[in-house]
Amino acid sequence: MNQASLHRLIASAQTDTDMPSELGKLFHLRLAGNLTLIKDLFFTLYPENENTESFEKLLSEFLVLFEERPENLQLQDVDRLRGGDWYRSEQLAGMQLYVDHFNKDLKGLKNKLGYFEKLGINFLHLMPITPRPKGENDGGYAVNSYHEVDEKYGTRQDLLTLTETMRKKNMFLMMDFVANHTSNEFSWAKKAISGDEKYQGYYYMYPNRSMPDAFEQTLPEIFPMTSPGNFTYEPEMKKWVMTVFNNYQWDLNYTNPEVFIEMLRNLMKLVNLGVDVVRLDALAFMWKKLGTQSQNLPEAHALISLFRLCLQIIAPGVVLLAEAIVAPNEIIKYFGSGRLKGNECEIAYNATLMALLWDAIATKKTALVYKNLYNLPKKPEAATWINYIRCHDDIGLGFEDQFIDEIGWNAQNHRRFLLNYYCQGLDWSPAKGEIFMYNPKTGDGRITGSAASLLGLEKALEQKNKAKIDLAIAKIIMMHGIVLSYGGIPLIYAGDEIGTLNDYSYLEDTHKKEDSRWVNRPQQDWTTVENLDDKTSYQSTIFFALQNLIRIRKQHLAFADTNNLALYDNPNPHVLLYERTLNNEEGVLVVCNFNDEPQLLDKITLGAYGTKAGLEDLITGNSITFEYGKVKVEPYQLFWFQS
Ligand code: GLC
Repeated sequence: MNQASLHRLIASAQTDTDMPSELGKLFHLRLAGNLTLIKDLFFTLYPENENTESFEKLLSEFLVLFEERPENLQLQDVDRLRGGDWYRSEQLAGMQLYVDHFNKDLKGLKNKLGYFEKLGINFLHLMPITPRPKGENDGGYAVNSYHEVDEKYGTRQDLLTLTETMRKKNMFLMMDFVANHTSNEFSWAKKAISGDEKYQGYYYMYPNRSMPDAFEQTLPEIFPMTSPGNFTYEPEMKKWVMTVFNNYQWDLNYTNPEVFIEMLRNLMKLVNLGVDVVRLDALAFMWKKLGTQSQNLPEAHALISLFRLCLQIIAPGVVLLAEAIVAPNEIIKYFGSGRLKGNECEIAYNATLMALLWDAIATKKTALVYKNLYNLPKKPEAATWINYIRCHDDIGLGFEDQFIDEIGWNAQNHRRFLLNYYCQGLDWSPAKGEIFMYNPKTGDGRITGSAASLLGLEKALEQKNKAKIDLAIAKIIMMHGIVLSYGGIPLIYAGDEIGTLNDYSYLEDTHKKEDSRWVNRPQQDWTTVENLDDKTSYQSTIFFALQNLIRIRKQHLAFADTNNLALYDNPNPHVLLYERTLNNEEGVLVVCNFNDEPQLLDKITLGAYGTKAGLEDLITGNSITFEYGKVKVEPYQLFWFQS
């Protein structure tokens, strides 16, 4: 039983929470329930003999922070606790968006809530809206504040109005907490530059190259082309600052307990604005240790659990998403392991599935998908995924070489093929993507581009080739159908619901042109949206297909994530089959074909579903009959068969 389940039991035993004193009582019970674990974690990171004062300071923060939390959110917290793991529900369907690219600002976004409702979206991830440096700012991931609103998006009041309206509509909000680094304009950084030693101790900084050089021995480079190395010289201070991402993003030094306590305060100020899910940005990097890659370290896990357990005392209705785009068996550890199982992040990006789906599209084969998914450790039941095909970042091919080799492909050649396939290195490929951070030294690179362009729509439209356009549309729908039926929260990237193509305008902006991720950060096309109901465009086909899938998802409990996903092995190399089971009764069998030739599946492949006289496809409502004992799956067709 994880700590959240414990608090659920306690909250459910306490029935009268309308009175503030009752809320306070529950707070104290949560504090008592988590304190031993918190103490152990704190002193693991910060040796007890030197840090008892800091621990006392942390203790004295809890009540202050709890009292600062608005009462309506305190009440919601307790409701959420009692309601169980709301984030695993089949009712959730999400969208990720840039507020300014979507509809100008926060007010503009609020005016478009009806658009989400039309599509069935009730969970929004807003990209950073906090103040940031004027020039380069990594799309807002260089933060000047953790809880203020950049004037470009509106005011704090606009955000509060938005979150209040969303709550009334039962919509959930996810926002970023860029916990690993601040911008070089953040108040602490400015004080550090002006010589304040206290704040210099909030970052990793060194007077000469000896420590930076020692670190560089083992630290990989994240942005080798635009920001090589991991340290930046700050002439005013005459010091080298650790900057793992861009040179204007300063890594916070969590070996200093003051940083943890201050960041907990910042986190609370953010969630008090009405945030339901906190996306812990780049959390794998949060602890640095000489002689290591400083990613996924045990100390980073302890630190994140510490955030989790503290937040749970103050705001137990808020959950954490791990933005850990790392190796598959490392991602799973962000759900917590050992005695911290289920006490770290509740949600993680399913970057493994995402990358594997792109592999299957390029190879037209599902062998690598099966190989990896079969070898993934099972996640804790209280945890879930964000399933997605595209986001604002690149696609990293983060699966293991060993598995590529084991299915008989050469890992190096295979990775090169994928880069060529997606990044215009092969004439015959339908994909039109761009390479991101190509490193000529190693030959490594990542892929970027919009889902529609990567799936062939842009080229097909250029060629005015109707058959290819149809194939691309089928791929777009199938890929979304997978993320909508796989266990977890589906997150659609704004624009993908209408097949938005690459946006090349970033090439004209000096602050963006070196970062090809901007090719997939387009402006929402409201003219197209206004004409969707004509149902004549490809955009309309995609939109209404997704709308239908979302609607069906919400009607079937089998789509709630209770670790109820069963992969079906099958001899056909092009097909992916899995079942979402429900009490071994009302399951849904998902079938998809990654090839541009139709595939015939026999009854044995379909397991219990094959013993039925016919099959009901939830998506079309059609009954499918077996012909000569086989079901035909058209190119990129998706079935959701009802049991
Ligand atoms: C995360 C964000 C990415 C950003 C990086 C540094 O990975 O998704 O866009 O560049 O963190 O903050």
